[in-house]
Amino acid sequence: MILPAIMSSFETKVRETLANPQNQGELADADAVGTVGSPECGDMLRMWLKFTEKDGQRVIDRASFQAFGCQTAIAVASIATELLRGKTAAEARHLGIRELTGDLGPLPPMKIHCGQLVEGALRNALDHDAGALPAVESSTANMASTLASTLHPKAAGVLRIVPLG
Ligand code: FES
Repeated sequence: MILPAIMSSFETKVRETLANPQNQGELADADAVGTVGSPECGDMLRMWLKFTEKDGQRVIDRASFQAFGCQTAIAVASIATELLRGKTAAEARHLGIRELTGDLGPLPPMKIHCGQLVEGALRNALDHDAGALPAVESSTANMASTLASTLHPKAAGVLRIVPLG
């Protein structure tokens, strides 16, 4: 059971993050894009990644997101897209919800799927990283340009978080 004080602190941090959300919107020149949906609540989230070369490594230069989601998902996505800067694809792939939530701390049990939405979008984007998979037909060009344009009945299903891209 979550103590009311802990829940209150969590909600305060979410509110503070939402007062100045970071990295919202499409990255027009992204190298990777991933979209997932949660059949449980109907929320969806898309994440874009743009890579750059730094010290001989290919690292994430920018990450952004677009969400039809609850406040927690938006807050986690805001924090996660900040945390991703400078990470290699391999490092990003190893980030779980605990890391992606940053200063928000652990998510309350009823909010865990909100974090999974962000984690799922990140993994889906990494799976569609055109720069890392040049031989695979995974460019962002064949994906819908907005999150709204991907809304379709296939979002429903038995999986908790469903890749839509
Ligand atoms: Fe669905 Fe938070 S309630 S992502």
